[in-house]
Order: sequence, then structure tokens, then C-alpha cells
Amino acid sequence: MAIPFDRGYYKPPFVKLVSEYPGDDIYPVADFRVEWGPVFHRGRLDGSARVLIIGQDPAQHEAIVRRVLVGTAGKRAQGFLKRLGFTRNYVFINTFLYSVYGQGGGNRHIENTAITAYRNRWIKAILDRSPIDAVVAFGGLANMAWRGWLTSSAGASTGSLPFQHLTHPTWPESSARSRAEREVAVEKLLKNWNDGLQALKPVIQNPDVPGELELYGTAFGPDDLPDIPPDDLPPGLPAWMRTEEGWADRKGETVLEKRRTIVMRVPKGVLPP
Ligand code: URA
Repeated sequence: MAIPFDRGYYKPPFVKLVSEYPGDDIYPVADFRVEWGPVFHRGRLDGSARVLIIGQDPAQHEAIVRRVLVGTAGKRAQGFLKRLGFTRNYVFINTFLYSVYGQGGGNRHIENTAITAYRNRWIKAILDRSPIDAVVAFGGLANMAWRGWLTSSAGASTGSLPFQHLTHPTWPESSARSRAEREVAVEKLLKNWNDGLQALKPVIQNPDVPGELELYGTAFGPDDLPDIPPDDLPPGLPAWMRTEEGWADRKGETVLEKRRTIVMRVPKGVLPP
């Protein structure tokens, strides 16, 4: 049986884009985990994408699989796409190529002209090739990234696209201090996503799976965290990297040690007892 996989960046303009990414002269090591390398995208670059999703920055799972939005945030975003009718024809990029390190790093660099210019090359490459019906920014920095595109000379000439600025998928975890607070935050997040779905569903011309919009309830259900499709990831990655929610953590006794270390664990149940 053929196992699908993402063939990577072998065609123009992406082959050139990935060979010209900004390094630590643009992304300072004090504010970004440049030591783990840039992570560029996930999804279709072949002109079939119909939704563009902009996230914030890669975390530990993304550093391992070399595609964006594959951990908890990615699975929640995948579920959002599913409700919109998409199981395949989408593309994700992040606001930043490298994981933001420490407090305020994202805000400090969101208006950096070299970071914006490189991100805008990606947005242009995607929009030039793909019949995108709608754009979603998850989080405030992603919203600013889209604004940065719209106010660029290339962005101004592409005209307006239906757009929604929605709450970042892991905002509940980053904002809540207790389980109860987290549950309230998830409910708020899903209400915000429901508003986004209702605004976007009418503008989607060609969903992968047609059907009526079904809104979220007050918590994520099991069907709201779909596996990451194998077609989105490089060849040979074990299936549990797509199906499990959390299998990698940053660990270390000191700040530096933690920055240098990602611990990956094969989930229980994968190996025979
Ligand atoms: N991982 C990503 O790639 N992007 C996010 O915004 C969050 C997690």
C-alpha cells in the first residue's frame, strides 16, 4: 500500500524561498530558538489550497517533524478546517519561522521589515498559485502579519479576500492558571471560532467535503482533534507523530539545558506490552 507523504520544496518558487530564509542576523537568538532551525509551512503548495491559515510560531513538535502546526494547536486547527469542509486543500504558514523565546519576543519583532518581507514572499507565492477563498489568522501576531501583507505593495494589488482574525488555538493553555479557568477559556475560544466559521462558510466555494456547517459546543470533543494527514509530513515519520496530541517536551535543569533539549517519547500502547 502506498503511504502518502509531502514531497517537500522541490518546485519554484518554494525551492528558492527555502534556500533564502533569514538566519540569526534577522531573528536574534535572544528572542527566537534559531538553534532548532526554521519551519516553513504545512499543506498544499501545488496550487490546490483554498484556505490559508496563519499561525504564530513553531513549538517542539514542529521542530521535530519540520512542518508547522502539528502539535496540540495544529490538531485543533485541523478540526477547525474540518468544520469548514477541508480535509486536504489548505495551507498553513506561521508568523515567525522560528519558535519565539521568552516574553515579548514576538511583539518586539512583529514589525521587523526583513521578517515581514520574507513572510510576504511566502504569502505572495501561495496566493499567486492557489485559488484561496479565505484567510484565517490565529492570534494577534498572525493578524498583524496579515495586515503587514495587506499594506505591502504586492498585498495591496491582490485585492481583498475574506479574512477572519480568530483566537489562537492554545490561548486557553497560555492564559489560564487553573483547570476551571482553562475550561472557561476553551468555551470562549470555541464561541469565537463559531463566529469565524459562520462568517467564512458562505464564502467557501469548493470545500473538500460539502455539507452544512456544524458549530462547536462548549468544549473540544474527540472528533475536534483529527490526526494530521500523512500527506502533510515528510516521508517515513511514524504514525503516532500525527495521531497523538503531545509526544515531545522541552526538558532541562537549567534554562540553557532546557533550551537545548527536546525529549520525545513513543506513546504508551504503540509497543506491545
Ligand atoms: N505551532 C505552530 O506551528 N504554530 C502555532 O501558532 C502554534 C504551534
